[in-house]
Amino acid sequence: MWISEVKESKEGAEVSFRGIVLRQKDGYRYKVFDRSGEIWIDSEFPLREGGAYEFVGRYKGGVVVVERAEELEEIDVKYFLPFAENPERDERRFWGVVERISDPRLREFVRFVFEPIWDEFKRGVAAKRYHHAYIGGLLEHTATVGEIVVRILPLYADYGINPDLVILGALFHDVGKAWELKTFPKFEYHEKYGKWGHIFIGANLIKEKGREFGLPEETLTDLVHIILAHHGEYGKGSPVSPRIPEALLVHLADNLDAQMNHVLKDESKD
Ligand SMILES: [Fe+2]
Ligand SMILES: [Fe+2]
Repeated sequence: MWISEVKESKEGAEVSFRGIVLRQKDGYRYKVFDRSGEIWIDSEFPLREGGAYEFVGRYKGGVVVVERAEELEEIDVKYFLPFAENPERDERRFWGVVERISDPRLREFVRFVFEPIWDEFKRGVAAKRYHHAYIGGLLEHTATVGEIVVRILPLYADYGINPDLVILGALFHDVGKAWELKTFPKFEYHEKYGKWGHIFIGANLIKEKGREFGLPEETLTDLVHIILAHHGEYGKGSPVSPRIPEALLVHLADNLDAQMNHVLKDESKD
């Protein structure tokens, strides 16, 4: 059974489930999780943090008193962690957005940045909890922010906005999350990169990659600005607020998708 079902069991009921050990407390108490949730268990048998087990026990007073625990030899990650619904579709959507960049040299720059990190980026999560908190969520979110700006840009075509810059900003805005958040055994901030945060990591990466690639200095300055400003204000983690319309557009598109995902995924759970 899923851990979410264990938690709904009657007092004293026998339960059996699989879980990964997240941490230990007071010697015998452990927190374990699967993709449906987490629970505290009491086990006389010593358990290994990060190990996956098959448990049998009784549900008493909100914890499971373990009677048997058997370590699983292989960990099926899909059983324990949530995944995006359709990563292949998201990958197609992402590269479809890249095609909308009109300058071929800038399209090449996107490949130059993403190709070496594609596996990590594809597996990335966009948040621990708030939005797109599942494996592949970072790609799904990035593809959607890209598609949002591609659709909105024609509305402002007469106002001198640089469409390529907006699309690049959308694709790169959260790239730092591929480092900031770890996905196993649990979605957590990385010990080192979590201290830097995805805004700095992304801005720094694009600054370095842009120089290496030979991106025009003006484009690089604005692109780094878009990444730095994408949370919109200082209080939300951005060191600068959007100073060019391209940055404002990426910020709003990002916010739109983050909030929509938060609400829609919550509703689909009911
Ligand atoms: Fe962000
Ligand atoms: Fe974002």
